[in-house]
Amino acid sequence: MTPEGIREGLGTKFMGQEVVYFPTVGSTNEVAKEMAARGAPEGTLVIAEEQTAGKGRLGRHWIAPAGTSLLFSLLLYPDLILEEVPRLIMLTCLATAEAIESVTGLPVRFKWPNDILIRGRKMGGVLTEVGVTGERLDYVVVGIGLNVNWDLSQVPELAGKATSLSEELGREICRLELLQRLLRYMEGGYLRLQEGYLPHNVFTSRLANLGEKAEVVLPRGKEEGFVEGVNAEGALLLRREDGTTVRVIMGEVT
Ligand code: BTN
Repeated sequence: MTPEGIREGLGTKFMGQEVVYFPTVGSTNEVAKEMAARGAPEGTLVIAEEQTAGKGRLGRHWIAPAGTSLLFSLLLYPDLILEEVPRLIMLTCLATAEAIESVTGLPVRFKWPNDILIRGRKMGGVLTEVGVTGERLDYVVVGIGLNVNWDLSQVPELAGKATSLSEELGREICRLELLQRLLRYMEGGYLRLQEGYLPHNVFTSRLANLGEKAEVVLPRGKEEGFVEGVNAEGALLLRREDGTTVRVIMGEVT
């Protein structure tokens, strides 16, 4: 992949039109945040073949051998308030799902709030970071990591939990094609979002555990209940045994 190759035939107005490419970098999210400080244009794509300090949610590391994955971040300046950022996370998951399905035909499901699953295993994730001044959102960096052509059977600690597109399909797929489609879906969705589109119902329809019992580990304590969906603010709705519904804003579904 090269910056010219990514732009060629992309056909977007701004998403991915500015490309910052690294064979190796610490974290594409970190670079994108630096680009924001320098006033880089909306839709700037920071992409790497390998990350030495790839970040996952909840302080975890995101690992991927060089050249096996899509590891990138998009710099955006959305007209949203901080509380509305989960809309952008849901939108990103949806654009990713549509791109994967259109390239591979594999069914994509989500685990709230940001996991991309195929046949119950994690093949990708989204990590969003924001810059704020008071109430104002200065920028949003949307980081996406997708396991594309990676033989995960070689990684015992991830066996059974994580998967890749090549593992599910039995053949390698073109990362460039997947990336370009994702950028196109992302731009379309992003423009709709700015016009007030709410992605939570479509997001809910793709939840892997919809209607099932789930346990969520919260920053403090735990909640258990049946997954009813996700609301417009991006909170997970759980129906407890006693019939009441609880909204979970931050936590991890086990
Ligand atoms: C998660 O599921 O925990 C989110 C993982 C997000 C990983 C991507 S890879 C590209 C971008 N740069 C990072 O450091 N993290 C995100």
